[in-house]
Amino acid sequence: MEPGGAGSSVGPRMDVGAFCRQSKVVVVVGKGGVGKTTVTAALALAAARAGLEVLVVALDDSGGLPALFGRDDRFGYEPVRLADRPGGSSGGVAGQVVTSREALLEYLEGHGFGRVSRRLIHSGALDVVATAIPGVEQVLVLGKVKQLEKAGGYDLVLVDAPATGHAVSFLTSSGGLVDAARGGPLRAQAEQVVELLSDPSRAQALLVTLPEETPVNEVVETAYRLEDEVGIALGPVVVNACLPVLDDLGADPAAAARAAGVRPPGPSRRRLLSMAAAFRSARQEVQSEQLDRLAAALPLAQVTLPYLFDQPIGPGGLGLLAGRLAAGIEALDGAAGARG
Ligand SMILES: Nc1ncnc2c1ncn2[C@@H]1O[C@H](COP(=O)(O)OP(=O)(O)O)[C@@H](O)[C@H]1O
Ligand SMILES: [Mg+2]
Repeated sequence: MEPGGAGSSVGPRMDVGAFCRQSKVVVVVGKGGVGKTTVTAALALAAARAGLEVLVVALDDSGGLPALFGRDDRFGYEPVRLADRPGGSSGGVAGQVVTSREALLEYLEGHGFGRVSRRLIHSGALDVVATAIPGVEQVLVLGKVKQLEKAGGYDLVLVDAPATGHAVSFLTSSGGLVDAARGGPLRAQAEQVVELLSDPSRAQALLVTLPEETPVNEVVETAYRLEDEVGIALGPVVVNACLPVLDDLGADPAAAARAAGVRPPGPSRRRLLSMAAAFRSARQEVQSEQLDRLAAALPLAQVTLPYLFDQPIGPGGLGLLAGRLAAGIEALDGAAGARG
């Protein structure tokens, strides 16, 4: 693994548009709950603001994506518009759910097997076929992603990958099928997926984690596995939900109140304030330890995103995260850039 430039500001800076045009497919990978969907949406919005037409691909269902963009309806296999760049200029975000079932159906219909596909649906066998052989499901889904990449309707196709554990097998199983299938359309499809994933000018993975021990361990392991087993290029690691570091947490509440010209808190509030300060201080310490540990274990640039206290995150919070993500990308060393 080569160093991705530790976010230093020397050398040429990275432009968000240029960053997002490095590869048309970006697979966002992370342990469940680290903010993978939120970061996917934030990157989509940052890219759209830079003038790109972005497609966010969700697997299984649209999940939290519509709410992040301020919509209350879900979306499915048909792409829906989630955001437009203000002012009518080019750039925007669309969302689409890709399932192996629908990818298979589309594949069959596109290859003159319309009758077969209708019978498969009718008999209930479609889901069996789409999931029967290990790896088929993933090849169908990634084959559809490859088709979206090739079709050229979008500048950037962002895939909100399944939670890690599943993410590695999601990305490796096409290689497994190339070895297992003797020939035929499935093997050809699997080969094309392997080609896509191993070409850094076409695809890269963006890892998302939290500044906590277990997610950091997991992201380090995932990074090495993706590199060894998939050969996919790795972008910077996004460390999500970082607490803004507060200085002076040890300040005496009474003295601070006097300095601010407000009435000093009573004893019980003072006690609560000290407890809150101690808690925050401990959290900050863990966070900075984990950021250091991550930097030491993984030679990839880090982009940090703030923890947002306003919950749930809607378009306002998403806009803020997109701005912070863009600033983090711009601070990357352009020469080393996102390449791992
Ligand atoms: N930067 C953040 N600050 C605060 N809460 C966040 C942040 N990013 C994500 N969350 C919250 O954490 C939860 C999990 O986020 P989500 O993007 O759905 O994670 P994943 O897709 O990895 O499971 C959601 O409730 C989301 O609103
Ligand atoms: Mg998610």
